[in-house]
Amino acid sequence: MERISLHEGTQTNASLFIFYLSKSFAELGFKILSDYNFLSQKEMDRLKNLKLEKRRRDWLLGRYTTKSLIQDYLSDSYGQKVPMRNIEIDNYDDGAPFYRIIGVKEFQDLYISISHSHETALCAISDSAIGIDIEFVEVRSDAFIRDFFSEEELRFISGVDTSLKHVLTNLIWSAKESILKVFHLGLTVDTRYVTCIPKEKNPREEVMYEFGIKLDDKIYSKIENHLKQKSLKGCWQIKDGFVYTFAVGN
Ligand SMILES: CC(C)(COP(=O)(O)OP(=O)(O)OC[C@H]1O[C@@H](n2cnc3c(N)ncnc32)[C@H](O)[C@@H]1OP(=O)(O)O)[C@@H](O)C(=O)NCCC(=O)NCCS
Repeated sequence: MERISLHEGTQTNASLFIFYLSKSFAELGFKILSDYNFLSQKEMDRLKNLKLEKRRRDWLLGRYTTKSLIQDYLSDSYGQKVPMRNIEIDNYDDGAPFYRIIGVKEFQDLYISISHSHETALCAISDSAIGIDIEFVEVRSDAFIRDFFSEEELRFISGVDTSLKHVLTNLIWSAKESILKVFHLGLTVDTRYVTCIPKEKNPREEVMYEFGIKLDDKIYSKIENHLKQKSLKGCWQIKDGFVYTFAVGN
């Protein structure tokens, strides 16, 4: 499990923000599949209802990674080692994740976000509303770009170097998903309501960059009041063939 730190210049105003990139399922899978002891009873019941193998693996890896992050946070901040099965990850009706610590009421309530791609999970906790996303960099068709990208994003992509087109396309897509997760909307709204423009056209591996964010007025009526943000900060990074992004309320 790898803890990713924010580089200078990409710090957010959230006083707490940490995120983890899990190792792949190949590395953690044996441990996770051989011992479900890290799940609460409610989570065990939920696992039984997940029938698709890919979904089970994603779900398990996401739970394991997120619980590890929360466990470390509680240990660092409160000096308490809480067993993983007492850290329960659940989802609201809209799909957004939250956690509860079984048997303990006093821990600070924090926002969490989870993403999985190609047997790798990414998760984050923050004291501000947060959305994160991980995408394996793959070829996206022109039709995909036309259907899901805003006019400004289309113009941006048409101007980038061909060798970077796929990376930057996946980045923009991932950034949109991160923002839509902050608002608990996911893909229930037109993705063109969110415009994300990378501030760097020639990215290097493992360097954190920012992306600019513009929201169409039409999106505001879809966001529940308690999830509306005064402003949002977006950051992204390329690593090991993946692009990962986060958006956090400022
Ligand atoms: C959010 C969404 C775009 C992510 O899809 P994805 O890119 O295939 O998957 P990712 O791996 O990046 O993210 C999945 C995680 O996003 C989180 N998530 C799901 N819906 C979310 C939402 N509305 N807001 C914030 N986070 C959400 C969950 O933690 C989920 O993992 P989990 O189910 O294992 O807890 C997609 O799930 C979506 O559109 N959801 C909303 C609509 C919906 O399906 N609602 C039914 C809820 S049961």
